[in-house]
Order: sequence, then C-alpha cells, then structure tokens
Amino acid sequence: MFAALELGVFDGERPVGAGMVRLLEACVALGLLEKRGNEYFNTPIADEYLRRSSPHTMAGYVRYSNNALYPMWAHLEDAVREGTHRWEQSFGPTPAGGLFAHFFKTESTKRDFLMGMHGFGMLSSPKVVAAFDLSRFRRMVDLGGATGHLALAAKDRYPGLQVTLFDLPEVIEFARGQIGDRADFSAGDFFKDPLPPADLYAIGRILHDWSEDKIRRLLARIHTALPDDGALLIAERVIDEDRRGPVGAHMQSLNMLVCTEGRERTLGEYTALLREAGFATVRGAVTGAPLDAVLAEK
Ligand SMILES: C[S@@+](CC[C@H](N)C(=O)[O-])C[C@H]1O[C@@H](n2cnc3c(N)ncnc32)[C@H](O)[C@@H]1O
Repeated sequence: MFAALELGVFDGERPVGAGMVRLLEACVALGLLEKRGNEYFNTPIADEYLRRSSPHTMAGYVRYSNNALYPMWAHLEDAVREGTHRWEQSFGPTPAGGLFAHFFKTESTKRDFLMGMHGFGMLSSPKVVAAFDLSRFRRMVDLGGATGHLALAAKDRYPGLQVTLFDLPEVIEFARGQIGDRADFSAGDFFKDPLPPADLYAIGRILHDWSEDKIRRLLARIHTALPDDGALLIAERVIDEDRRGPVGAHMQSLNMLVCTEGRERTLGEYTALLREAGFATVRGAVTGAPLDAVLAEK
C-alpha cells in the first residue's frame, strides 16, 4: 500500500516497471484495487482514503509512515532496549530545534507530517468536540493545533465559539495557507511563550509526544492561564484501564516510543497528571473514532 501510494497508483498512474503488475495484483488482493477487463480501478475505500485529491485522503499519513515511521520501526528492538526514539539512528544527527525539527526537516517532510495529522484528525475531531457539551465556552485556543481540524470542528459545532490556532511559527505559516481566515493564528512555543487567553484550551495528540516532566510543565501553564470556569479538552488514544487493549492504542504507544519522547496513557493516568496540575474534575469519553476525548475542568 505504501509503495503503491508513493507511485501514484491510487491517482490512476501506472508507471512502467517490471514489477508493476505484481504490485497491482497485490493491491487487488488487499482490497485496494479491483480489476475490470485489463484495467485496475480504486475500490471505494482506496478512493476515499488513498487518492490524493479525495477530501478525506490519508495520503499524507501514509507517506509519513512510509518515509519516516517505517524506517524507525525497523529499529523497534533498540528502542525497546534503550527507551528512546530512533530519529538519529535512522536519519542521522539531530537538527537544531528539538524533537519537531526531525518531523519538519524539509518542506516535503513537514507537509507529509502535517497532512498526515490532518487526515487522521478529520476522522476524529468532529466526534471529539461532540463528546462533551462545550457550548458554554467563548474562546478556544488549540495548542499545537497543526492544520486546525480540531479548532474548526469545534467552531462548526458551536458557532458562537471563537477559535485560535497556536503552533510553532513554521506550522502557523503552513496552516494559514490551508485554512485562510477561518481561525485566528498565534505563533509560539507552548513551553515558553505566553498562551493566548482562552476559557477552553485544546491539546490534540500533544501529551503523547512528551516526557512526564514536560507534560507537568505544560499542564501547569495551561491551568494557570485558565479562568476559574475554564477547561482543557484533550484528544488522544486512551488505553483501557486494565491495559489489555485496545490494540490501536498499544501500537500507537510503541509508535510514540520510536518517534517521540512520549507514550499513550489510561484515563486514570491522565486523571492523576491533571489533578496534580490542579484540575478539579476530569471526565473521559470513548468516541469510537481514532482519538478519544478527555475534559478537565479547573
Ligand atoms: C502530533 S502533532 C498534533 C497536531 C494536532 N494537534 C493534531 O492532533 O492533529 C503535534 C503538534 O504540536 C506542535 N508543537 C510541537 N512542539 C510545540 C511547541 N513547543 N509549541 C507549540 N506547538 C508545538 C507541532 O508543530 C505539531 O503541530
């Protein structure tokens, strides 16, 4: 699937190559293509998620998986032994600028990563913002919001809500190009810079990127910045309390091992971190989408 997408097969391209028929046949066996006469066509699922021009395309995530994650997963045993990500082992010395400088090394890797987040986010965000009644909030700031799918889903569901996308400068520049004036923008570092005022902060797939120390620092900053009636909305894959599943959350936790400083957690683990940061109540909701939702009220 990765190779076929990279070669443009789901966009109708059929580059000449001695292995092409085998690749097309394998895609038929995978349920991604169907053969009619001598021609191959996308199956509905491939047409929706693997064709680049589809509004629900996951092409960015597949390209990011093929080019970044797949090489790092080849070193999973070393990651398990050492408990650290595999960027240097797979791609050479750390670029200046910390963890995300790896993801954003070139314009093309930045685009693949952000569009990858976007593809998965589009599947999850409408359900994440519907998991709790957020209608009492007036201003939401999506911290590390990437292309803004969560902020825009919140605005669609709660039309009175003003939304601001906060992310690193190079991401804000990209997001502006993607969503224009549908949100306000603010560029900065959420570990250092003042957080734009809000009564609802959102962090989607942020806590799973970082060490416990950094999470504590970030949650404390968010708690301090919130008014007394404010809250924090979290979107992550949540591990079952008995840790026996779901398999997607455990695979994502291994994925976080190979590519970040973080991990996935149970609702109990999130609750402990949030209460330590000062939040009074914490609720979780399983959404049925790739990401679940947690709401912590100050
Ligand atoms: C895993 S992505 C999640 C993106 C988005 N929230 C989503 O769920 O699709 C992490 C995001 O955090 C941003 N980020 C990383 N470090 C940051 C920092 N120090 N300050 C602000 N944003 C940061 C990245 O640029 C990226 O957009």
